[in-house]
Amino acid sequence: MAKIMPLISRKRISARVSELVKEISHDFPKHIFCIFVLTGAVIFFSDLLRELKKKNIEIRFSAVKLSSYKGKKSSGKVTMALDADDVKGKDILIVEDIIDTGITLEFLRKHLLKKGARTVRICTLLDKKERRKVAIEADYVGFSVPDKFVVGYGLDYNGRYRDLDHVGYIQ
Ligand code: XMP
Ligand code: MG
Repeated sequence: MAKIMPLISRKRISARVSELVKEISHDFPKHIFCIFVLTGAVIFFSDLLRELKKKNIEIRFSAVKLSSYKGKKSSGKVTMALDADDVKGKDILIVEDIIDTGITLEFLRKHLLKKGARTVRICTLLDKKERRKVAIEADYVGFSVPDKFVVGYGLDYNGRYRDLDHVGYIQ
């Protein structure tokens, strides 16, 4: 069994979520149309949603399911198993678990713009900057992480460890 080394505690995640909500609510003071990426972003998104609701912001949301990973390796080719609801004319906030090469988010951003989204902004819990292959930056970043395979708080390794309350890495 893999050994998981702690990286970001539950407490630090909660504190950072509150800070991100301050930034996001400044840019989207009345309503937000969020698109979160299944499956990894589900816990981060629901924590963000609850904090944003405290600011009286109307939040509509829809999920997309994308995959490019097999085990610990990106295949580089993104497939979309579930598409978002109508995004025409909307200002979108994508909520993602991690940006690694950037290929997934670049694909999603272009896809949403092609479907008529007015603007697309990105919020990611984690950013593995060193591994970027395409020039894409998130507007809101929780934490930068080193080039390790991270799990927990929604992120998995072959379907396991999503249920950890913190983020760790596989040693
Ligand atoms: P790209 O390379 O397209 O990858 O930016 C983004 C997607 O890959 C997954 N990913 C990870 N999942 N631990 C994970 O559990 C990791 O360290 C990791 N790095 C990338 C993730 O699903 C993300 O949406
Ligand atoms: Mg993902």
